[in-house]
Amino acid sequence: MNNHPITIVIFGASGDLTQRKLIPALFNLYQKERLPETRIIGTSRSKFSHDQFRQHLREGINKFSPDSFHQENWDNFSENIYYQPGDLADARDYLKLADTLNELEDKPSNRLYYLAISPDFYHQTIKNLGKAGLANQEGSKSAPWKHVIVEKPYGKDLQTARELNKTIHQVFSEDQVYRIDHYLGKETAQNILFFRFANTIFEPVWNRRYVDNIQITVAESVDVGHRAGYYDKAGILRDMFQNHLFQLLSLVAMEAPASFNADAIRNERVKLLRSIHPLSREDSVAGQYLGYCDADGVAQNSRTPTYAALKLYIDNWRWKGVPFYLRSGKSLKRKATEITIEFQKPPHLMFGLSNPDELTPNILSMCIQPDEGIHLKFQAKEPDSEQNMRAVDMEFHYQKFFDGVKLPGAYERLLSEAIAGDPSLFTRSDGIETAWQIIDPLIQSWEDQSTDDLAVYDPGSWGPVEAEDLLSKDGHHWRINCGLHDDCIEPTPLQE
Ligand code: BG6
Repeated sequence: MNNHPITIVIFGASGDLTQRKLIPALFNLYQKERLPETRIIGTSRSKFSHDQFRQHLREGINKFSPDSFHQENWDNFSENIYYQPGDLADARDYLKLADTLNELEDKPSNRLYYLAISPDFYHQTIKNLGKAGLANQEGSKSAPWKHVIVEKPYGKDLQTARELNKTIHQVFSEDQVYRIDHYLGKETAQNILFFRFANTIFEPVWNRRYVDNIQITVAESVDVGHRAGYYDKAGILRDMFQNHLFQLLSLVAMEAPASFNADAIRNERVKLLRSIHPLSREDSVAGQYLGYCDADGVAQNSRTPTYAALKLYIDNWRWKGVPFYLRSGKSLKRKATEITIEFQKPPHLMFGLSNPDELTPNILSMCIQPDEGIHLKFQAKEPDSEQNMRAVDMEFHYQKFFDGVKLPGAYERLLSEAIAGDPSLFTRSDGIETAWQIIDPLIQSWEDQSTDDLAVYDPGSWGPVEAEDLLSKDGHHWRINCGLHDDCIEPTPLQE
């Protein structure tokens, strides 16, 4: 933490990410007066002038973040945006960039390099930054720093992730590197730690003695869209599990860190990932939605899974024997990211239920998106009955409670943390490698499989029926409790 102004250098400045996410997030921070003295330099191969670049970004704000736009704020903010054309492959362009930076910075400044570029160029860009001396920083805490933000995908397997870490570490030290997993920037994902560790009543039951199973659902209603070229090579396990689902898993299952310090939190997240029992092929389901192969950019007869469901275990004292069910997919019924903790049923029921199996257990649902909030399901006596009971819901909704507050987008939160020099919400090299170590063997075994193991599902459904079987053989079923106001248990296809 220091008080120097900051220069943010965006590589890949003419691309979608810059226009859609980065500039709207930075402008929002500016409007909220949360930016230090900031200057932004975009670079890419396009031939923009400074003004054309500003205009291009302004159009992005119009399209992707039109709310609460104030022209005067934009004029002041965009005055400090510059553009310099450059080729990522050409080392001379980095020297020119260095000259421009030195000309523009009238005081010693922190620098944040944002790699909003295709991962194919990561190695080259990092090496060139190193050669141009752009990564060098002085050792003292008060001196201006030079940090780099790297987007996902971070490698495509353990080996490529290690190679990337190696290249990065030849130029930047680990504490200069901010690897983005935008799920860690979601307010509701961060709230998991507050919910667990700023209260006393949940943590005593957050373990194998009281929890029956935990489910993590990250369902998307969108299909593969215009990203088929990338997606068809990646598939759901690389695209969603190695990063986002594992991050949610670590937040919900990790031990309490001793402090709210970046390394204390990241140590616990990594420790949790290291305790995952090796994944088993039998406890996994790969699926593909009907019609996927017709999308532009998808290979005909592609076997790439667009859906996955897994059962996994965590080998530690807290969680031994508790099944964790994780699922994610494209083209599903609706967008829903939710963590559900299903508690054990009472050991003995004195009420005369005709079928005790029908008793709905206590269920705590953390709704990450949309309709962010928390639901707790418990039994209540039906009025005017002798001993009938019904599962009812206690609900907390961010929007309602915090009076219509607009939750900041993940990029806004992450950029603000990176600008402040706090890496807590970013992944460390050991975390990335551990996640690949866990998922790689399963990807391998899916890819080695011949043809018959890919389940199909209808677009707009909750996924393949095989994913229901994965739970029903344990006597469970998938639950979605959030975003439904009347009856909070949505029937899954098997129950319909
Ligand atoms: C990205 C994946 O990391 O996350 C996309 O590459 C996916 O395939 C996206 O659609 C989901 O993010 P969110 O924030 O919309 O849940």
